[in-house]
Amino acid sequence: MKRILPVACALLCALVPSQARKTQKFTHETVQLPAVERQIISVQTENTSLVLLVHENGALQTVHYGTRLPNPEEYLALDTSSEDYNGDKGATYPATGGRYVGEPALHVKYADGSHNTELYYTGHEVSTKDGVVTTTIRLRDYVTGLRVRLLYEAYEKQDVIASHAEILNPGEKTVELVQAASSSLYVDADEYLLTHFWGAWAADMQLEREVLGHDMKVIESRRGTQATQGNNPSFLLSLNTREFSETTGEVIAGALAWSGNFRISFEKDNGHRLNIVSGISPHASAYPLAPQGIFETPRMLYTWSDQGAGGASRNLHRWARKYGVYGGGTVNPTLLNSWEGAYFNFTTETLLRMMDDAAGMGLEMFVLDDGWFGNDYPRNSDNAGLGDWEVNVKKLPEGIDYLAQYAHGKGLKFGIWIEPEMVNPDSNLAHEHPEWVVQSPGREIYQGRNQWVLDLSNPAVQDFVFGIFDRTMQLAPHIDYIKWDCNRVVQSFGSPYLGAEQDRFYVDYTQGLYKVMRRIREKYPHVIVQCCSSGGGRVDYGALAYCNEVWTSDNTDGLSRVFMQYATNLIYPACIMGSHVSAVPNHQTGNVTPLKFRFDLACSGRLGMELQPRNLTPAERALAERCIGSYYQYRDLVFSGDVYRLADPYDGSYYGLMYVSEDRSRAVVFTYCIRFESRSVGGKAFRLQGLDPERTYRVTEQNVDRSCWWGNEKAFSGKFLASGSFNPVLSQMYSSAVFYLEAE
Ligand code: DGJ
Repeated sequence: MKRILPVACALLCALVPSQARKTQKFTHETVQLPAVERQIISVQTENTSLVLLVHENGALQTVHYGTRLPNPEEYLALDTSSEDYNGDKGATYPATGGRYVGEPALHVKYADGSHNTELYYTGHEVSTKDGVVTTTIRLRDYVTGLRVRLLYEAYEKQDVIASHAEILNPGEKTVELVQAASSSLYVDADEYLLTHFWGAWAADMQLEREVLGHDMKVIESRRGTQATQGNNPSFLLSLNTREFSETTGEVIAGALAWSGNFRISFEKDNGHRLNIVSGISPHASAYPLAPQGIFETPRMLYTWSDQGAGGASRNLHRWARKYGVYGGGTVNPTLLNSWEGAYFNFTTETLLRMMDDAAGMGLEMFVLDDGWFGNDYPRNSDNAGLGDWEVNVKKLPEGIDYLAQYAHGKGLKFGIWIEPEMVNPDSNLAHEHPEWVVQSPGREIYQGRNQWVLDLSNPAVQDFVFGIFDRTMQLAPHIDYIKWDCNRVVQSFGSPYLGAEQDRFYVDYTQGLYKVMRRIREKYPHVIVQCCSSGGGRVDYGALAYCNEVWTSDNTDGLSRVFMQYATNLIYPACIMGSHVSAVPNHQTGNVTPLKFRFDLACSGRLGMELQPRNLTPAERALAERCIGSYYQYRDLVFSGDVYRLADPYDGSYYGLMYVSEDRSRAVVFTYCIRFESRSVGGKAFRLQGLDPERTYRVTEQNVDRSCWWGNEKAFSGKFLASGSFNPVLSQMYSSAVFYLEAE
């Protein structure tokens, strides 16, 4: 069957300016489309199905995402659209133009100034590599010839589907990608409760929940760098409910693997179906796509579960540990970081004594933070030295090698801090390469923390940044860990290198960062990299493809961290969460949660310390040693167990979570009292989850002299522990308890 596609109309003629009208021919010619077989394309995982329908007119429509539908023969019945469906509602990858008037996934401006694209199916293939099944669907606009490939990677066991697009320009002229999203996902439910995350310095990953209405909801970052200290490119969507549930109901979790500007929009059609468009933000980024060029979007990750937010988190975490986090599934060392214990004021002697203490307390690594570099412009505060990555000979005359060897001699690994994307105006680098700084001609280059951003869209800067990492690794024969910091957002954006193509800046910056990261990983596959950006400014699955962990927040206060770690862990696995005990109050932290509370909380992530150990009292030090020692008994569960959240801190006086081994033979339970009124309202009985009801578990409280639960050291059935009888006495504000469970 042949169909026709109109390309012009009299009305359009009337709207074209008179100058252009003389040169343009509107012939009312139409393009003939080839015949297409009506068919279903389904992407399946163990418990989910994404079902797409190719209509006879070639339009591609999403007709189902959610529970796995057992019988593919029934899938055609999912089509509830009228016979002449023409790519409007439910379009799988809707483009600006044609009949589509909603939020587009793709918006192309062509060389002749037109904005219309209508994508039609031309074919698809399915391939399998390393157990991941990839469905590639080819689409085409028959007027301009523009092509799109939609790729869906199905991770069967984890119930995760990663989707992204490739845009191909087969024409002879450059086109502008005004918007090129990774994915558009149509879902159909009666209600949508959105959970998403915003943040600020020392207030990372703050949670917000709202029921979606018919106005468009957008989560976006335009910060360039430090994207996630604005919003995080991730969300949970509870379906058919206005109540958030950890354990029941349908939940979709989504996360974009991209560290730059992003945009995720939620738009209901004039029924109740919701279109989620996610990808790079179009903000100031009408990307020029040259003839024969291909633009690849980042991946958008989706999972669905009918076991509430907990089920969706566990799916994403399992995927992340196996595929999404560099080195995921392996255990990272506990550590003492020098920052809050010494800041910029140290000598070799200071650091050696901190290493003595780190080793003495049972930690596994020492990390030398900011302040070790710069001679002409010594890094004695944050106003000088960034860019000049030579060892400061005044502070550290024996060099880094001496420190690393000392650490290794004590049985400690050794790590070091860099901030390679940045430069202080007071540095040799700023004087030698002013053209490497992000700037816009004639405008002030604004400073934040006394620094500027280097232009990573420039390949010469990419080489320089790679060189910083490379040379730092050569400072000692063996460096185990690099903390990569990034303390500045992009402002007055502009690249001297990109000249008139400034629309490329934000995209090329992030791609430039990834190019550097790829080179690093080729040369240094084993070094542990922590991704820090004034704390959690770069917590996303784009960065985590190269980094083993993140610095969750500069705010290490126990109470603040409860909320931040709870929210972070909704999307990201505990293995990435750098979680340190520091002194309180300090310049970054206002509150005064007790040391035990801070330890009990830090132990639910990758444990570390960030203080001057000499300032601990003997009793505090003894507690620290006890907590660190016991952590090793269950650390593997934190790193690779399944998380079950037992109490939502946003919804009461307690926070609780547990990690359970895959075979359900071991678990660790963390419980915290976080509000004052709990003393009068009585205690809390937690319902443990994920245990085998038929097995018996011995429960042992950690980090204490005297237990707060009557059942300590006793054995209970999994059924009993799940029944709401697990009621440690947490009656004081900031009381907390950690329990290790082992099946007998
Ligand atoms: C910001 C980081 O978040 C801190 O942990 C610390 O590394 C400082 N930068 C050092 O300048």
